[in-house]
Amino acid sequence: MEEKEISQAVIGRLPRYYRYLGDLKDEGIERISSQDLSKLMQVTASQIRQDFNNFGGFGQQGYGYNVEYLYEEIGKILGLYQEHNLVLIGAGNLGQALANYVNFEKRGFLIRGIFDSNEELLGKEVRGIPVNSMEKLEVFVRENDIDIAVLTIPKTSAEEVAERLVQCGIKAIWNFAHVDLKVPEFIQVENVHLSDSLMKLSYNINRYNNEKKVKE
Ligand code: NAI
Repeated sequence: MEEKEISQAVIGRLPRYYRYLGDLKDEGIERISSQDLSKLMQVTASQIRQDFNNFGGFGQQGYGYNVEYLYEEIGKILGLYQEHNLVLIGAGNLGQALANYVNFEKRGFLIRGIFDSNEELLGKEVRGIPVNSMEKLEVFVRENDIDIAVLTIPKTSAEEVAERLVQCGIKAIWNFAHVDLKVPEFIQVENVHLSDSLMKLSYNINRYNNEKKVKE
């Protein structure tokens, strides 16, 4: 399959397709038309076709898509058939909640090590993984072929820790700290801000209420 530059908006929609197709596959559904997928996912059929055309189309219109094939192909595009070794830095509330979530492993994201600067947490285990001292970070990252770091530390220390990670060869940062990290271009950063999502929800509540008032 020939790959061209794909927009981040399209990439951002792929995980949702992947989830829906996984559910369809589990239900034993073998084929689905773009119209039926569109109804199920509440997006237009033309959006689906446009998105899939970025990757060669995946199937014939009219005949529908082969669910299993599409699921596998999208999984490959998302890089889900290769394992990723992760370290999690910051074993507080959020860090422990993430480390306790087993489904990341099912997608090939393996948390290999947990690190924290709080000495009281050292040795404590989260799902069998001990919390390590930050002094051991660099050696651990290099020796365990770690490619992704999860940052669940306060923003005041995120930049400094990110720099250390870059120095020891990390490829990507899943950043929960509320700061835009300044890292070299070749480091992939995905920022997650749950409060952004809540603010969007708040905006939509207001918009819905205002529209209702106009109609009344
Ligand atoms: P927490 O205080 O429970 O945990 C933070 C942990 O980071 C502590 O165990 C602390 O010892 C450790 N830590 C601090 N500085 C460190 C350093 N330089 N190196 C290694 N470990 C260090 O806080 P919580 O609730 O787990 O939140 C963690 C961070 O994530 C906070 O900064 C918070 O603002 C942010 N957050 C972000 C969310 C998001 O959606 N992006 C949602 C919730 C929290």
